Amino acid sequence: EIMRLVVVLAVLMGVSGIPDVTISPPTASADTSAHPNSIPETGAEEDVMATGELNPNHYPARRAAQVVQHYLNTRYGSPFRLIGVQTVHSGNAEDVADSGRKYQLELSVNDIITNTTQTCSAELFFPKGKGQQPPEVKALYQKYKTNQTLMSSDFAQQLRSDISTLSNSKLPSDSHGHIEPDMKPFWHLGILASSFIMLNESTENTLYNVAQVANITQLTTEEDHLEFDCHTLLHEMVSQEIIHWKMLFTWSPAEGVKVVQMKRLPHRHEREKSPKTN
Ligand SMILES: *[C@@H]1O[C@H](CO)[C@@H](O)[C@H](O)[C@H]1NC(C)=O
Ligand SMILES: *[C@@H]1O[C@H](CO)[C@@H](O)[C@H](O)[C@H]1NC(C)=O
Ligand SMILES: *[C@@H]1O[C@H](CO)[C@@H](O)[C@H](O)[C@H]1NC(C)=O
Ligand SMILES: *[C@@H]1O[C@H](CO)[C@@H](O)[C@H](O)[C@H]1NC(C)=O
Repeated sequence: EIMRLVVVLAVLMGVSGIPDVTISPPTASADTSAHPNSIPETGAEEDVMATGELNPNHYPARRAAQVVQHYLNTRYGSPFRLIGVQTVHSGNAEDVADSGRKYQLELSVNDIITNTTQTCSAELFFPKGKGQQPPEVKALYQKYKTNQTLMSSDFAQQLRSDISTLSNSKLPSDSHGHIEPDMKPFWHLGILASSFIMLNESTENTLYNVAQVANITQLTTEEDHLEFDCHTLLHEMVSQEIIHWKMLFTWSPAEGVKVVQMKRLPHRHEREKSPKTN
């Protein structure tokens, strides 16, 4: 059911929650000073977990908010709906016995394609213990009534009828990171697929962004859904690492994005070394 939309005209803060709108070459990505999600250095490497009421501008709240952003994109994203955290209003964190840590957040999130903002309450649980388990997220998000459904089915139709649109296309189209309007829906798909990885890889101590969707290739398939190969570069801001991932994902307007395979690639220097050592 479609709920009535609630538009909150939030004052735009300096911090925009868009997952790296500027696509920068990997070499330039280590500079986070101009990063759209860059936040004050305070508490960047806090070891002691903040508990109780959180400062919405500090890392613990911002990191948790970023996880909510990834979660919302995995659930509600489409080539024509991409969600970014705009403002963190308030946050709270607590230990849950020995099982993990729970966060509660009040946020404003923005659909960057239609530029519509809404408030959103979210609850996150970071499990503790053996192995690294992905965070569990619950969030109340109201789907705006937009024409994204229509746009998505047109787009899917176009891809089914002409696979050459994307065979071996490279993103972005020029060295300044400018993306042709035609390519944006593909780029959004790459970000959505990356969101699955970022959500799965996130902990209380990480802050993941997409540094670059390097390339996407549409694969031929007889199925109803469309299939893509994608190479993406994720920026983990706490460790300052750029991590390469390759993934295979499917998309259909009805089912959304599903990541079928994801593979973390070794670091560049390890990749360059390996042919010699083997
Ligand atoms: C988005 O909307 C806000 C107010 O609703 C406006 O101030 C801002 O300029 C808009 N941004 C874009 C990119 O259109
Ligand atoms: C959907 O809406 C956007 C902007 O509101 C418009 O540019 C676009 O043509 C619309 N597309 C369809 C398929 O209705
Ligand atoms: C998420 O990561 C875990 C390891 O931390 C992995 O076992 C699991 O397959 C990943 N989930 C998906 C959907 O790939
Ligand atoms: C995709 O981009 C990565 C990183 O820039 C590159 O190593 C890889 O060769 C590219 N793959 C294709 C198919 O273009």
